[in-house]
Formats: sequence, structure tokens, C-alpha cells
Amino acid sequence: MTLEEKAGQLTILADTIRPCNPDINPEVNHRQADEMVDQIRRSRVGSIFNGVGVKEGREAQRIAIEETRLGIPLIFGSDVIHGMWTVFPIPLGEAASFEPSIAEQTARATALETTASGIHWTFAPMVDVARDQRWGRVAEGSGEDVFLGKAFAVARVKGFQGSDLRSEDALLSTPKHFAAYGGVSGGMEYNFVEISESTLRDVHLPAFKACLDAGALTLMSAFNDIAGVPASGNKWLMTDILRGEWHFKGFVVSDYTADEELVNHGFAADGRDAARLAFTAGVDMSMQSGLYVDHLPDLVASGQVSLEAVDEGVRRILSVKKAIGLFENPYKCLDLKREESLEKIKSGHDELARESARRSIVLLKNEKLLPLKKSGQKILLVGPFASDVDNLHGCWTVYGDKKRAVPVDVGICMKSKDVEVLQGCNFEASTDRGIDEAVEAAKRADVVVLAIGEPEDFSGESQSRTQIVVPEAQQKLAEALAAAGTPIVVLLRTGRALAISGAVLRAEAILVTWFLGTQTGPAIADVLFGDYNPSGKLPVSFPADSGQQPLFYNAPRTGRPQGNGDRTFKATWREVHSKALFPFGFGLSYTSFSFATPLLSTSTMGWDETLKASVQVSNTGERDGEEVVQLYIHDCVASRVRPVRELKGFRKVLLRAGETQKISFELRRLDLSFHGADGNFQAEPGEFHLWISSSSAAGEPVKFQLMPASVA
Ligand code: NOJ
Repeated sequence: MTLEEKAGQLTILADTIRPCNPDINPEVNHRQADEMVDQIRRSRVGSIFNGVGVKEGREAQRIAIEETRLGIPLIFGSDVIHGMWTVFPIPLGEAASFEPSIAEQTARATALETTASGIHWTFAPMVDVARDQRWGRVAEGSGEDVFLGKAFAVARVKGFQGSDLRSEDALLSTPKHFAAYGGVSGGMEYNFVEISESTLRDVHLPAFKACLDAGALTLMSAFNDIAGVPASGNKWLMTDILRGEWHFKGFVVSDYTADEELVNHGFAADGRDAARLAFTAGVDMSMQSGLYVDHLPDLVASGQVSLEAVDEGVRRILSVKKAIGLFENPYKCLDLKREESLEKIKSGHDELARESARRSIVLLKNEKLLPLKKSGQKILLVGPFASDVDNLHGCWTVYGDKKRAVPVDVGICMKSKDVEVLQGCNFEASTDRGIDEAVEAAKRADVVVLAIGEPEDFSGESQSRTQIVVPEAQQKLAEALAAAGTPIVVLLRTGRALAISGAVLRAEAILVTWFLGTQTGPAIADVLFGDYNPSGKLPVSFPADSGQQPLFYNAPRTGRPQGNGDRTFKATWREVHSKALFPFGFGLSYTSFSFATPLLSTSTMGWDETLKASVQVSNTGERDGEEVVQLYIHDCVASRVRPVRELKGFRKVLLRAGETQKISFELRRLDLSFHGADGNFQAEPGEFHLWISSSSAAGEPVKFQLMPASVA
């Protein structure tokens, strides 16, 4: 290969042959497509992304294979985050199911639709731990917890990739954004990340490592810096940790122009310098900037980048192309017949879309109002989301079949004939007329179902907020409706945890519905009318006030905890308590559960021993229901300040009305380990607390000791 051909393999560009934005002026479209074809012919690009369609994909691939000297096939990548044509709940919502198996199934279904549409590779899962709800990208991940996030990350990788990467429906996955993007200061998008190495290793890296262990072959480098060194130019991260410690054999793709942005960071002098720094740090493939193809040949010629390093980068990319079977079958995922069968594939996913959506809904409050009756109860469905069809999918839905998405009103009207539907206000604007009409209708109704929250573009990339609240116009509508006196069920649509207050918080019932995708309406109706008993739990803590951010349940212990008492000289605020309003792991059901005191197999756990912890959980209500049984630990005295609680196990169990089940977990020394004061990853002997509870704030701890290694 010539150096130019090698640099081409190290380059990925946005697909202008089959752009995913059909609104682009056709003339511009044409010109850009011609330019792309030219780039392919000249071997200046080895992969293209965010395009769709088999026919044009085949033609692009044909050019790569037949009209270039080496005939190396292209990989087609794309952002397919929570569904291709069938849209599943946003990843944050799906995490609320606390069922990684659901995520595996939706990722598998996504892989079937995506690979049939001319795409080999998705830039997902997003595995950034997000501890600040002001950050808009909270929506794309699995929330604030390391353990839960890891479980969902692995499930998604497995679901996307399937059991054999060479098969026609295997979708290559890319855990992103490596690393610590979720730690942006103040929750402000693209901001700096100032964290310690132990926080990086204990909180932000584990999900990536778990994904690689599960078979992921590519990673995406993050935009942010970590303690002053941009991730996309960070040799310690990309090479020492990733290759040296983890022995990663796949390749790293930069985020969109992240290499070029090293100049904006003030870390690189110019584009050439940025290409040198990103590439030598270990970013193998440059996305969109074109810097590698422009500068690597010259950087090698001048001795600033070694030929061996370039060869190694190319080898990694070609190995992945080989691993997915592209050399044997360059037209993989480009089968016209399979594309024709898409309608059938998609309709086969409606049921899963509904199931995953209803399992993602979290019941925050219920003062005996839910479930609603299907007849004999006059329902007013009101709010800007009542019949809205533009905000069902949620952020990062590049494709998504809008025509198939079912809004809330349609879902509800399928179950009850006694429904009046009004908008009440817009997302961010209200009129007295709209509110007056809603209030009059509320007075005539037996129950108000109030569909409010964040529109779709409030979360996702570049959507940080300072005030994570229900928009003012909608809050005003809620206040006016509350004054009418009819009981209210809030359907809270959101891509992050919100600080809810006033009439929204005082509503008789609150359901967090996230963005649920294609089957939004039916899933919400299933829960509202009790055809599905809600079982979701919060994957992020809902604060009492925006100013509490970052607020996450597993925060390190402070020397002056507020506890339940006074705020004076305690770690808290003048205006608000230090606690979450609805903590991580919290969620109600239409039945009730009780937890007995956990039983341990031993109170002195040997260094190499497995501790067994079990608990009797009872359904004390009159309906069958599912409970997420959660195991938390706390290391009482340690060389580094430990989180007040840490999730180490969870299981969703179905309990019939009146049934009791024993739920067991196992804990090993590894589960108690962290990066201590000496930087080593290890457990420290001594006392631990253990909870098995229904949320991160429930239950009483039992104690055990981890015995030192020397004690037999
Ligand atoms: C920027 C985003 O940060 C990343 O998540 C995405 O995959 C790329 N753009 C490509 O669209």
C-alpha cells in the first residue's frame, strides 16, 4: 500500500452519496456525491458514515472494490443509537427497566433493521456515566451508576453484534465516548473534565473495559480533555491504558473532527500538528476532518510519525474489516432482497417496541389514582405531548420511521372511549385561552392526564440546560389545572432527571415516560390502565432543585453529612436539602413489596471467599407485580473516601400477589475493590455495610467484615 492509500484507510467521511438528510438541495447533493465518489476512487477514504440505502451503497462499494488499485471494501457506519426504523426507548429510559436483557433484544432488533439497510457499523452504545443532569447527553446513556451502566453496555454490544460478527445481521458496535465525557464540568456540553485518576478508573472506564471483554472491536474517542489532556490526543488513555493494560486489538475512531479540535483546545498548533498528536496518541481513524489523509504522508516523510505506527493503525482497521467478513463478502449488508424485506422485519418489532417502552416507564407517585378505569371515568388528556407526533422518538434518531410512531392520544383512545384531548399550551408558550379551555374541560372530567415535559431537542448532543425543569408555559398549565381540583396524572416526558415542583409534584400520580419511541402511545396506555403494572426504577436521581447538580446517589462521603437534620455547618445548601427528591433506583408499582432483613452466609468474609447474601421479598398487595431487588454496599473505612452506597447487584423479579421469594446474590472480593490511595485496584479488609432494598435510599444495612488475606 502507498502511504496515501494507508491514510485513506485511516479516514472516515460523512456519506454524501446517500445523505441521511434528504432536504439538502439536490444540486448540492449531486456535487457532494460526485466529490465522495472521487475520494473513494482515489483511495482517500476507507469508511463512510451516516448514509443509508442498499442500491447506492452497492454502487459506492463497487467503486471501492473495482475501481481502486487494491479493492479494499468500505465500512459503512452510522449513528443508530436506540433503533433504526423501529425506535425503542432512549437508552436512559431503557436503563430504567433495569433489564439488560431487554436492551440486548432491542439492540438485536436494531441490528436486523440496520444491516438490512446498508450499514455495517453503529456508533453505539454510548456508555458515558452521567452524574450531572444538566448535560443533555444523559439521554443517550444508562444514567449515573457504574454497575447498571456496565450491565446495559455489555447487553447492547452483545445485541448489536450477535453471536458471529461475520454474519449478515451482525452490527459492529462502538462504545463511546472514550473517555469521561460524562464528567464535563457543570454539565456544560464539550466542557473540560477535571477528575482524578481513581474517579476515571472507578467510574468512567469500567463500562468500556466490559464492552471490550464482550467483543467490541472499535471505540470512539471523546471530545473532552481529562485533567488538561484532550482525550483525542491522550496517549496515556489511548495507548498505555487501552493497548498496554487492556490489550485492545481493535481500532479507535475519533469523534467528529475531535482530532482537529485539538487546535481549539490549544493542545495542537495547527491541523498538521493535531493529526500528529491524535494519531500518535492512538486514535487510528480520523472522522470527518480529513486531517490524516491530508497530513500523515508528509508527517511520515518528515519522520514525525513512524511508518510502523501507520502500518499498525491500518492493520487494526483491516483486521476489523476482515473480522466482519468484508473481504469474503464485500457486499455484506448490501443485499437488495433483504432490504426489500424490511417492512416485514420492522413490523415484527412492534411488540418488542411496546414491551421495552412499558418496561421503561417509572411510577414516581400514586395516590390511589392509577390505574385508570377503561370506562365510567371521563378523562381529559391535555398538554403539548397529548397528540404530538414530533417528539416521540427522542434525541439521536437519525432514521426512525415517523409514520409508524403512535402518539399518546391514539394509545389512550384505543383503551377508553371517554377521552377528551386538548393541547392546553405549546412546549414553551401558553395563551390564556388555551389554559382557560383546559381548565373548563378539567372541571368536566373525572381525571386529568397531563402530558408535559421536555421536547425532544432539549436533550442529546449540545443540549445542556442550567434549569432542569418543566418549561414555564407547561408549569403554568399544570398550576391552572391543579386549581380546578380534578385529580391529575402527570406523564412526564424527559431525556434527563428533572427537578419537578409545584403542581407537577403535587399531582396525584406521576409517571416518568422518557422518550419511548415507536410504541409510545400503546405503552403509556398499558401502564395507565393497568394492563401492565409499572416496574421501572430511576437510573438517575431526580433532584429537588436544579442547583443541586451534580447530584448522584453514590457520592463520596463528606465530613459533615446533613443526615435528616439541620443544615447548619453541614454539607448542603441554604435553599434546599442535600438529598434527591426521588433517588436512584426508586420506582413504585400498583402493588406493594416488603423486604425482610438480608441474611449473609458469613459475617466474616474470607479474602478469597464468596459471600452469599439473600433476602425474602414479599408482594404485600393485591396484584402481581415486578420488583427490582437491589444490592448495595459501603466500605466503612478505607484509604480513599468511599461512596455512601454502591450498587453491586440487581434483579427484577415477578411476584404474584401475596407471594414471597428468596432472592440471592453473590459478592466476591472483586466487587469490593476500588483504586485505593496507592493507585492499586484492590479491596481493603474491614467493615462493610450491605443493603438489599427497593432503591438507593431504602432499607437498613447489615454488616460484614472482609478478612485480610493472611487470615485463613
Ligand atoms: C458527534 C457525537 O459526539 C457522536 O456521538 C457521534 O457518533 C458522531 N458525532 C457522529 O455523528
